[in-house]
Amino acid sequence: MGEGNAPAALWLLLGVALIFGVAVSPTQASRTNHYDFFIKETNVTRLCHQKTVLTVNGQFPGPTIYARKGDVVVVNVYNQGDKNITIHWHGVDQPRNPWFDGPEYITQCPIQPGANFTYRIIFSEEEGTLWWHAHSDFDRATVHGAIVVHPKRSKGAYPYKKPHKEIPVILGEWWNDDVNHLLEEAKLTGGDFKPSEANTINGQPGDLFPCSQNGTFKVPVEHGKTYLLRIINAGLTNEMFFGVAGHRLTVVGTDGRYLKPFTVDSIMISPGQTMNALLVADRATDGSCNSRYYMAARTFSTNTQIPFNNSTATAVLEYTDAPPFAGPPDFPTSLPAIDDIDAATAYTAQLRSLVTAEHPVDVPARVDERMLVTIAVNVVACPPNQTCEGPNEQRLAASLNNVSFANPAVDVLDAYYRSMPGVYEPDFPNRPPTTFNFTDTDLPPEQWFTRKGTKVKVVEYGAVVEVVFQDTGILGAENHPMHLHGFSFYVVGRGFGIYDGKKDLASYNLVDPPYQNTVSVPKAGWAAIRFRAANPGVWFMHCHFDRHTVWGMDTVFIVKDGKAPEAKMMPRPPTMPKC
Ligand code: C2O
Ligand code: CU
Repeated sequence: MGEGNAPAALWLLLGVALIFGVAVSPTQASRTNHYDFFIKETNVTRLCHQKTVLTVNGQFPGPTIYARKGDVVVVNVYNQGDKNITIHWHGVDQPRNPWFDGPEYITQCPIQPGANFTYRIIFSEEEGTLWWHAHSDFDRATVHGAIVVHPKRSKGAYPYKKPHKEIPVILGEWWNDDVNHLLEEAKLTGGDFKPSEANTINGQPGDLFPCSQNGTFKVPVEHGKTYLLRIINAGLTNEMFFGVAGHRLTVVGTDGRYLKPFTVDSIMISPGQTMNALLVADRATDGSCNSRYYMAARTFSTNTQIPFNNSTATAVLEYTDAPPFAGPPDFPTSLPAIDDIDAATAYTAQLRSLVTAEHPVDVPARVDERMLVTIAVNVVACPPNQTCEGPNEQRLAASLNNVSFANPAVDVLDAYYRSMPGVYEPDFPNRPPTTFNFTDTDLPPEQWFTRKGTKVKVVEYGAVVEVVFQDTGILGAENHPMHLHGFSFYVVGRGFGIYDGKKDLASYNLVDPPYQNTVSVPKAGWAAIRFRAANPGVWFMHCHFDRHTVWGMDTVFIVKDGKAPEAKMMPRPPTMPKC
């Protein structure tokens, strides 16, 4: 398949059909929204430090994208920065449309400085909160924003009382240094990255930090009204606990799907995940209570041996109809401690799909491809005549089934589409190459090593895939937020220790498991996901801790075309950037 006129024309026709076809059909009321994203260097000051960061349209966090279920959104990205970049639409399945998914060297070559690229984002079943972010180097630190997917206008209704207001709450991290500079340095030395200096809420550390009083994010509320918090963890390295003083949160959705509502004092959210939570402003406003309450985001660390940012970001909920109260806002008293694994486990166990006629589940009972995938932080050998700053003076790396993913020089999708040899190998293993005491944190140094490779897993169209992620203790066990592009998956099981097929299969939830795109694999434990590979294309799977991503804790699914025309990838857009 070449870049000739035929595929280009075909693609154009398809695009035209998509725009006009839906517009004239009264039964499918989808719309096309347009956005312009100008990527540029912008001056930002936090914690008394000024630096230039990459932003979209000068905003940090970037603009919110609004859509209705089933819409198509078109985003023109103009790279006015000085480095290569791509954008990913995290959690949007993009049926048959891997071309516009975004991860660099997986589905596209990056957009070069001065160039532009127009993404066509196809929404299907998603409804709730998703987000978008850069998918190149560490650009995601400041290039990210919310995606809000409202119900369809026709049968549009939330499966809960319509909130008075909706508030995006984007959790992130701030480094005083340039993050891509830190990345370059770490690539050079093979050592670890410096932890961030602060967590942030909507780009702000909050007034517990120096020079942060003025910017602190504030949410004005009125007594008796209900607010929908659309919480997104856009952080690069930290899972987080989040809570609001004096208020409980009723969690109603995650990753663009609805949940059975449950009420908690605080949530745990992993990088890549979103949580929708209702908050009722029900504190007394007669002057007997405070009128201001902190919202707080605290790091949740499952391996406190690794240096981490031990801090809490805050925003402030302010009652506009209460007399001002002397003194500081109340602080949430029940926010779990930084290493409270039990609190996180108890929270995550409560995530269950809603399951109604409007929002059914379809959990595959039968599995075609069963994979056991070990997760590890490793080392690769330090090249001769170099000094390396990883463990035992080697270079840090990371792997899935002991393959440390290496980005190819051209994207996997193009290589697959054009049948180019030598770009990737289709033999990513279904099982770890060796069996060992996976969760042992005291393994001998020989066991730390992995090998680089660009190995992908090829699956048939429509096959049901089960992946059991198994964390290992190599160089320390910890949670890993594993994210899959192109699909949401049912998280059918989670547990501690080494996965035991016979015993653990019996504990699966096949009735109302949460449908997510990012699962937090428990430290020294496992998580099982199932999905139907009915989305042809090339789809990245990786840990959403960015340093693990760049170390190689990634792989790629290639889902083959099916027989029917609706089961085939769309043709290659002629506008794809060149490497
Ligand atoms: Cu949130 Cu591969 O991405
Ligand atoms: Cu990880």
